Amino acid sequence: MNTTAPTECKAWADLTHHAESWRGVQLRDLFKTDVAREIQFVAEAPGLKLDYSRQRLGAMTLRLLARLADERGFAQWRDALLSGKKVNSTEDRPAWHTALRTGGSLPPEVRQTLARMKSLSEKIRSEGKIRRIVNLGTGGSDLGPRLLADALSDGQLDVRFAANVDPLDLKRALEGAEPASTLFVVASKTFTTQETMANVAQARGWGARHLYAVTANLEAAKAFGAAEVLPMWDWVGGRFSVWSAVGFSAACAMGFHAFEEFLAGGHEIDKHFAEAPLEKNVPVLLALFGVWNTNFLGATTHAVLPYSNALRLLPAYLQQLEMESNGKRVDREGRELGYATAPVLWGAEGTVSQHSFHQLLHQGTQVVPCDFIDLAIEKNLSANCRAQADALAFGTSDASLPPHRQYPGNRPSSMLSLDGVDARNLGRLIAVYEHKVFTQGVLWNINSFDQWGVELGKQMANKILSGGN
Ligand code: F6P
Repeated sequence: MNTTAPTECKAWADLTHHAESWRGVQLRDLFKTDVAREIQFVAEAPGLKLDYSRQRLGAMTLRLLARLADERGFAQWRDALLSGKKVNSTEDRPAWHTALRTGGSLPPEVRQTLARMKSLSEKIRSEGKIRRIVNLGTGGSDLGPRLLADALSDGQLDVRFAANVDPLDLKRALEGAEPASTLFVVASKTFTTQETMANVAQARGWGARHLYAVTANLEAAKAFGAAEVLPMWDWVGGRFSVWSAVGFSAACAMGFHAFEEFLAGGHEIDKHFAEAPLEKNVPVLLALFGVWNTNFLGATTHAVLPYSNALRLLPAYLQQLEMESNGKRVDREGRELGYATAPVLWGAEGTVSQHSFHQLLHQGTQVVPCDFIDLAIEKNLSANCRAQADALAFGTSDASLPPHRQYPGNRPSSMLSLDGVDARNLGRLIAVYEHKVFTQGVLWNINSFDQWGVELGKQMANKILSGGN
């Protein structure tokens, strides 16, 4: 594997030079001079179409970015990830979330756990004794199942989430609930996380009768006395764990068949990621655009704008996925980096976001590259989504307008179109972003699978709580 800094790659130097020639280029001129741009700058993955014609780049840019990926040893790294090699070097373990969604060839322990999840969730949904499920977890043990349940719940069960150590969070999740008909699902890979354990204590104080645990710390879960313990494994990272039993609350909310569809969607993207050539590979392309915008055009933030109420929690989910994975300051060899890694990711559902922060996107002093998620079949949403992307790209060219009415344009975006939000499509979408994150980690020579940056604050809080200062 290539251990040199990416900045020492020939392609990096060429991209730096190439970026100079892009400084004055306007998207509106590109679209005028190259009518084929809209047709050529697209790529497809199962259920998804990526239109990147509004990115500030050309065919040569893409060739250089793909060369950078080659020089970084991307193909070897991808094989290592997908075959379960120890790509998480600081914790000496694989990041093998793709093994959770391989359909016919699942590892036996995964198959058994899925079978258990199926029988438990189907029993809960058919018996009707449990009417409320409260998921107690935080970070990756919360954001994934919360996103799925919010997007895809069929309403048969009332599935809520409490993640904050603030007791108000759980109090709200329990409004109107009764201990006899409420199941708590304690999701925690480590089973030591302070917020989750505090919420478990609060739930017990409330009179909790039904408790399940989802964890890799089976000893702790048994000692704790859960009625069911669903395992996960140290080779599944927290922010990649929605595909594991961490998805149990979501599986109860949407039905197990839908959960299987979700897994199948993820697997389709794994195949696409493994097989599609780089210039047609949707997650790889998103990664390349991110590197281009961050390292060569100077963007410091990145907005994700799903034009879908069902996907309103996607930005929060991706914040953990991208920033906890790639918010790193040293490379795999421990050297301090001389180049930027993950930009700040933020966003919200369109059209609501238009009436909030789009002013800055259109006329602010910083350029924010955006990912628009477009539901092509929803007429109103899609029209707004496309209009925003076009307004950002092309702006206004009427010089007679007063300055405050002018839009500079030339603000880059990608558009990912789906034909609707169902379980399979959501699995596809999340897997695309997972592989984007991994690819960027390879390009930046960082370990995307650890998160040591969260430890110091945890230790300090514990010290303060135990009377230190
Ligand atoms: O503090 C960050 C973190 O470790 C995340 O990576 C993880 O998803 C979350 O805490 C929850 O951890 P656990 O599942 O072990 O409770």
